[in-house]
Amino acid sequence: MNASPPGKTSTVRFSWVTPERVRRLRLASGLILFCFVASHLLNHALGLYSLKAMESGRWLFLAVWRNPVGSILLLGAISTHLALAFWAIYLRRHWRMPSWQAVQLGLGLLIPLVLVNHVIHTRGASMAYGYEDSYTMLVLLYWQLQPTLGVLQSVLLLVAWTHGCMGVHFWLRMRPWYARLSLPLYTLAILVPVLALLGFAQAGRYVSVLAADPEWLRQLLADSRVPDAVGLASLAQARDAILFSLASLLGLTLLARGLRQWHESGRSVRISYPNAQVVSVPRGFTVLEASRQGGIAHASVCGGRGRCSTCRVRVQAPANSLPPASEAEARVLARVGADANVRLACQLRPQQDLRVTPLIPPSIAPALSLVQGQVMAGEERELCVLFADLRGFTSLSEQRLPYDVVFLLNRYFEAVGDAIERAGGIANQFTGDGVMALFGLHTGVAQGARQALIAAQGMQQAIEQLSADLHEELALPLKLGIGIHCGATVVGHMGRGLATYLTAVGDTVNTASRLQDQTKQFDCQLVLSEPVARHAGLDLTGMRREQISVRNRAEPIGILVAKDVRDLQWSVERS
Ligand code: FES
Repeated sequence: MNASPPGKTSTVRFSWVTPERVRRLRLASGLILFCFVASHLLNHALGLYSLKAMESGRWLFLAVWRNPVGSILLLGAISTHLALAFWAIYLRRHWRMPSWQAVQLGLGLLIPLVLVNHVIHTRGASMAYGYEDSYTMLVLLYWQLQPTLGVLQSVLLLVAWTHGCMGVHFWLRMRPWYARLSLPLYTLAILVPVLALLGFAQAGRYVSVLAADPEWLRQLLADSRVPDAVGLASLAQARDAILFSLASLLGLTLLARGLRQWHESGRSVRISYPNAQVVSVPRGFTVLEASRQGGIAHASVCGGRGRCSTCRVRVQAPANSLPPASEAEARVLARVGADANVRLACQLRPQQDLRVTPLIPPSIAPALSLVQGQVMAGEERELCVLFADLRGFTSLSEQRLPYDVVFLLNRYFEAVGDAIERAGGIANQFTGDGVMALFGLHTGVAQGARQALIAAQGMQQAIEQLSADLHEELALPLKLGIGIHCGATVVGHMGRGLATYLTAVGDTVNTASRLQDQTKQFDCQLVLSEPVARHAGLDLTGMRREQISVRNRAEPIGILVAKDVRDLQWSVERS
């Protein structure tokens, strides 16, 4: 433990509690608990098949979670997750937060309230009195003897599951592949608890029939070794003691937080934003907390956990007046290639007045947060740009109903967009029947050129497949013209509000578009510029070469014409 130097801040810090460690611990403990809840729900779902299947599933469940290793893991995860929740409450400067965070926090705090009762009366009773907490016994209890408790337990499971699903969602949502998997994952997130509840209900109905037989009931109670009245009273006492301890811990945390805020009040810093907005907050607030306090829209895809970089700001402050970036913050900043005067607003706790400029639009999509790195603010990059256009689309659309045109276009965009992404490019604009894509944003222009050629082959193949799929609808197969050029561009996030997207502008982009136009003149699938061929190491044997003039470009440009992209060969290894 150490204290900050005098005159800077008097906040006591635990040097081993770094945000990165906290994040990892929260994630690891959360994932263990999520697996526990998922396996519990799946076990319930077996009730749809039979009570016997439920009981067999329970033995597997117990083998995993009630052996010494599983028990330590589970208990450790519960205590860690809970401790980190209290720690997060202590650190929180105010209660303004995105609604998803409020829901997750609320659900998380609800869980122990109901969980404690369940654990004490199953695992606790089993350890103290040898109680056999079989499914048959618990279903009888929750379905027939105490249905209110059954409803409460079902709600608990749903709360825990929802809390876990939200955690997993916010953990994964910045991954570029997540958007593609989100629909099946969302379906699973709904399906698992629904099946679990149906399984429980089915088992409940079956046990009710069995319980009509007094002898069966007497035997079950005897086999289950249900604790007597004294035992039940001690279990209730243990439950109350744990709940009281948890409530006390929460109270102490809130008290400590209040004391710290009182200590910090009166020593405020002023944070100035563009448009002459100024927010005054006590020292110790992060810049992101100040933005929220001041009602200033500020991107924070990860909710202020120092993982997404979307909250980053350019800072103007007196030299050496800023606290240094933690290891985790420095790593995120390095990952996006941030300048020296850029900091993460959610990690920076200014000690003096300063001016900040948020660099990312508040509406940034999660999947783009880290992918696009520094180019969000606009910068020069050497890139490969691909334009594609569906031949004869105007006459094709004239003969169709608008719905059919939209259907056809969506199938087309899906087919070519997939081919672009598979090759490593970013399909950034779909306009009319045209597509624009960028390659080499993170891999360099040479790799980008190879990726663009692979994409061109994939796109043509996808169009052939689409034509085959729709042959009954189409008089002629679809044809695609593609132009590729590379060179200097200015890349950045442009647009407004929800219509903000990554794009590139400049002569390279215009030229690529003109090359795509040339595919009509040469009646070919692809026209590429010589620089693209050079970067990709394209084998030019037998390829038609031309020099053409391009509008708005002083010099003619050397191009290569590919009748059929399948004939393209490049000598370097494809990636
Ligand atoms: S909000 Fe994600 S890093 Fe700051």
